[in-house]
Amino acid sequence: MYLGIDLGTSAVKTVLVDGAQRVIASESRPLATASPQPGYYEQDPAQWIDATFATLDALKASHADALAAVEGIGLSGQMHGATLLDASARPLRPCILWNDGRSAAECRVLERRWPELRATTGNKAMPGFTAPKLLWIATHEPDILAATKLVLLPKAYLRLVLSGEAIEDVSDASGTLWLDVARRDWSDAALAATGLSRDHMPRLVEGCAPATTLRGELAQRWGMRRPPIIAGGAGDNPAGAVGIGAIRPGTAFVSLGTSGALLAPTGTIAANPDRVVHTFCHAIPDMWIQAGAILSAASCLAWIARLFGVAEAELLAPLGSRPRAPSPVSFLPYLAGERTPHDDPAVRGMLDGLSHGTDRGMIVQAVLEGVAFALADCRDALAGAGIAITEADVIGGGSRSPFWLSVLASVLNVPVHRFAGGETGAAFGAARLGRLAVTGEATAAVCTRPQRIETFEPDTGLTDAYAERLSAWRELYRPRH
Ligand code: XUL
Repeated sequence: MYLGIDLGTSAVKTVLVDGAQRVIASESRPLATASPQPGYYEQDPAQWIDATFATLDALKASHADALAAVEGIGLSGQMHGATLLDASARPLRPCILWNDGRSAAECRVLERRWPELRATTGNKAMPGFTAPKLLWIATHEPDILAATKLVLLPKAYLRLVLSGEAIEDVSDASGTLWLDVARRDWSDAALAATGLSRDHMPRLVEGCAPATTLRGELAQRWGMRRPPIIAGGAGDNPAGAVGIGAIRPGTAFVSLGTSGALLAPTGTIAANPDRVVHTFCHAIPDMWIQAGAILSAASCLAWIARLFGVAEAELLAPLGSRPRAPSPVSFLPYLAGERTPHDDPAVRGMLDGLSHGTDRGMIVQAVLEGVAFALADCRDALAGAGIAITEADVIGGGSRSPFWLSVLASVLNVPVHRFAGGETGAAFGAARLGRLAVTGEATAAVCTRPQRIETFEPDTGLTDAYAERLSAWRELYRPRH
């Protein structure tokens, strides 16, 4: 029996997976995000721990026997967040999250100070990443920086509480700008450019390697026979890849979660930082992931549902299962700024083309199309790195909407596929990594591809219309910096 724990942005989700890779049970607890200023996003690490423990306590209540038999745990997590710990391993301030845009000026400082940054890390310095956040702290909260002894990503903090050890996996570490992605090790030059050293960093392991074990008293609390092994785990996107068996080149997929991404596993690094393609080590050794990442995807749908005061399902139902024509309204999904391809934390969203004839359905359709157009920008950025996308699987909450997947297929002009819900997701991928750490099985034997339940082909009657709209949509973007 294996546990996968995904420390997401909007919730912690824990799944219990058996030896036949069936999800036996899952529990999730919501997380709140604070926005102390526009463009600032923070979370209190204590709530990650409370939420995680609540999911495990609930599993103990409902599935005590299965939980007792857990041998391996995999962790997945929201990437890039800066959790700063003092000498007693206590958080010094709320974690600054992946979508926080406060450190744009520091990114420019970092790239000037260390010109090899893009070549070594495979990434452009962007406010979402961890290193510029530390430069911001150095300027604005110097006392906090002086007290900082350890800098951890969210799931590494969770692992520290679960095990007592500071350990990170190389996929999540790729989002810090402190990793040499080719060597899969910390870069001393990168750390020095931020005034840090390896002493501030956790030990590194591969995602599927055994990292540590659960503390004895926690194993007891959850009734486990032996303290389970905790694997390296992965950032949420690489963990999602493991969950759907996207561990080889040619297995590109779209994630339609709170944030969105178009991700392509590769056997060699194919970086394109100038077009804001992200380079991550994969959770599988000797593999990497090149990704276009957008900051708002399913969160745009949640936003418009909040605005209209109705549930998302109620908003989507009148649209039917596929579009007849592009919406007359256009939407820029830059509600929290944007990464690929603009790297513009200051840009904001836009609804264009409103008239007296505009109805709710047109606006909702425009929102879904705007996210699809942003993913088309990611596709083009990946093409600039020599990666051609000919089909894509879709994971994440947004993949439940057939209408959205139809739009996506016609906008990207490739077939898109979806899976049966239960087997997908970062938590399931994390559970697979937990298993690999225990059994040492071949990755391909465990990271199989789940069955596709539906394929959405591009609608040949719409692809030209969408290509035209994509060009017009791109004209709406005006850089704010
Ligand atoms: C990836 C990214 C997000 C976060 C939160 O670069 O910033 O996907 O991991 O989900």
